[in-house]
Amino acid sequence: MRRPLLPQHVALPRDTLWTSLQLLPSTPSTNAELAERARKGAAHGTLLVAEEQTAGRGRRDRTWSAPAHSSLMVSALVRPRADPALWGWLPLLTAVAVAEAVQGAGAADTEIKWPNDVLVAGRKIAGVLCEVVPGTGDGTGDGAGRAAVVAGWGLNVDQAAGELPGPQATSLRLAGADTDRGRVLHRALERWSCWYRRWDGGDVAAVRTAYESLSSTLGAEVRALLPTGATVEGRAVALADSGGLVIRAGRREVVVAAADVVHLRPVLPP
Ligand code: BTN
Repeated sequence: MRRPLLPQHVALPRDTLWTSLQLLPSTPSTNAELAERARKGAAHGTLLVAEEQTAGRGRRDRTWSAPAHSSLMVSALVRPRADPALWGWLPLLTAVAVAEAVQGAGAADTEIKWPNDVLVAGRKIAGVLCEVVPGTGDGTGDGAGRAAVVAGWGLNVDQAAGELPGPQATSLRLAGADTDRGRVLHRALERWSCWYRRWDGGDVAAVRTAYESLSSTLGAEVRALLPTGATVEGRAVALADSGGLVIRAGRREVVVAAADVVHLRPVLPP
């Protein structure tokens, strides 16, 4: 019998950007619910956490599901001041925060597959989905009319192998790590606030360094499947200033902004 999260398990960490956290027993999707609230003017720093999602959204129109009380499903509403050309870093910095929480729970061999899949020993443990909500243009002075981003992540915590989508997925339990969801959430929220503030304050370089040190993609031979159906194959050599992936394909360098990436061969020595 899995224990529900209680309000005392989800106290907001101090000195962070988070202004409120609501725990929902069940919702179609925390991202969808928070996007709706964003359109109605919800504040920067609002968090939603769900025990169950009935229509959880994944990247590229996929779904995301987990048995009730088994995982963490979290969405945050932020209204960045940073140049929209840099918003591609938001999913990346969110993945860094989640990866650090996974490491803090004791999972060895934690990496990020570009753009924002968190892996433990090569298996996916968490995914991130960021969605932009256009601003209303209302000049209320508190920023409520500014464009928002709903950043959501799902982390497999207590699932057994048979409760996961397949052998390519894992959970903190299967990794032998801490499965106390309150503790893991607290750590993730601290790290998320820290990286968000650095990024929104202009220190993209710090986020880049943290991401690069966790990346399993940089240096690897990859195939990127683009939303158009086209593919790019080559060596992933860098992150672009936008957060996109730079792939050296023959003599060309292509910047990929949104794609599914397959690692063809592991990282080659420099
Ligand atoms: C992916 O890897 O495809 C991204 C998965 C993102 C899932 C999270 S769970 C909380 C938030 N609400 C959603 O509907 N999706 C995200």
